[in-house]
Amino acid sequence: MSRPRRGRKYLIALVGLPARGKTFTARKLAGYLAWLGYPTRVFNVGERRRTVLGPGQHHEFFDPANRDASEQRRRLAEDALDDAMRFLRGDGRIALHDATNTTRERRDAIRARCAAEDRELLFVEIVNQDPAVIEANLRETKLSSPDYAGVDAEAALRDFRARIAHYESVYETLSEDEGAWLRIVDRGRRVDIHEMYGWIPGRIVSFLTNLQVTRRPVWLTRHGESAWNVLGRIGGDSELSPRGREYAKSLAAYVRERFGPSSDLDVWTSTLRRTRETAAPLGIEPGQWKALDEIDAGVCDGMTYTEIERSMPAEFEARRRDKFHYRYPRGESYQDVVQRVDRVLIELERYRTPVLVIAHRAVLRALTAYFLQLPPAETPHLPMPLHHVLQLTPTAYGCEEERVALAPQVADH
Ligand code: F6P
Repeated sequence: MSRPRRGRKYLIALVGLPARGKTFTARKLAGYLAWLGYPTRVFNVGERRRTVLGPGQHHEFFDPANRDASEQRRRLAEDALDDAMRFLRGDGRIALHDATNTTRERRDAIRARCAAEDRELLFVEIVNQDPAVIEANLRETKLSSPDYAGVDAEAALRDFRARIAHYESVYETLSEDEGAWLRIVDRGRRVDIHEMYGWIPGRIVSFLTNLQVTRRPVWLTRHGESAWNVLGRIGGDSELSPRGREYAKSLAAYVRERFGPSSDLDVWTSTLRRTRETAAPLGIEPGQWKALDEIDAGVCDGMTYTEIERSMPAEFEARRRDKFHYRYPRGESYQDVVQRVDRVLIELERYRTPVLVIAHRAVLRALTAYFLQLPPAETPHLPMPLHHVLQLTPTAYGCEEERVALAPQVADH
């Protein structure tokens, strides 16, 4: 059994003007870190304000000259920080403070708090100078905010712009004496990295520098039914069954219909025969990833589940009890799989063109869990039947899932 190592705990504080994409970034990053196995949670100050004071604060509430309101805002940010620190005192490993934190004074208060509780502090600043991007973000996320329910769109935009101006009047960008931080300018056109040392900060840098906000879907499918699927044997490197070869043709027809003949579709497979054979009728040279190979069942490779249960009952039971952390003797756990498909995921986040991934049950569960933000315990139980294409389309703060069944339908093994 392997569990995440005990280690340092992190507070990640967002920095930036309203409507720069802080909440999008915080949620994506939190989803990614939780997927890697670190208990992570976002503490959003805007939501807290709406819960405590009710929605619909006008821009005057955000005016720094408005003393009472400034004090209320300071207290709300501090309360969210209290919750974040409480989470870190418990099981939490990484907490994100999703607030503007645009003044040095606010950030110094966070730093003092982290020092007192011996927590690592990282700032992530989002800077956007492109008016078109800001406008798009405003229209997409702020107009539907409960703050402007029932308010005419143009009046809402005017008020929100005035709110931004209040923050701009006191905004101090991060400086060199503020420790570990990362600044993303214009959606990654430039990224400044300052004193981000260590494994977790390194994962954060890698993720955020490759994160795109484009909404293009990804397509995932298992290989066609294989000879070993028919026999109920796990692992191996068998060829496709006759029905598996039929699926490969159905998939090629579906892709042609869906993307057209001159598409810029990229196809990624594992290095195993069954995924390469499934890709063959597509007529597109696939990229082969070792990291997409099926979970390594170690000493159980080639056995059926019944054989494992009969000859290694304790192993079978241990896997049934905790399928995510269970590691096959001399093989892998789901947690190991997540860590190795991490590099595929970072590439998927970076790509702007459509990608079809042809891989295996456990590996696709691991990838899908990231997009659907599933807790680790649910990941190994996600339905991932043969002969289906799963389309995952990112939305503002989540992901839509669509499954298409293609012929011939076969039993799930
Ligand atoms: O049976 C097909 C298969 O891809 C095996 O090679 C692999 O060990 C298994 O599925 C993963 O699914 P589970 O984690 O549910 O055993």
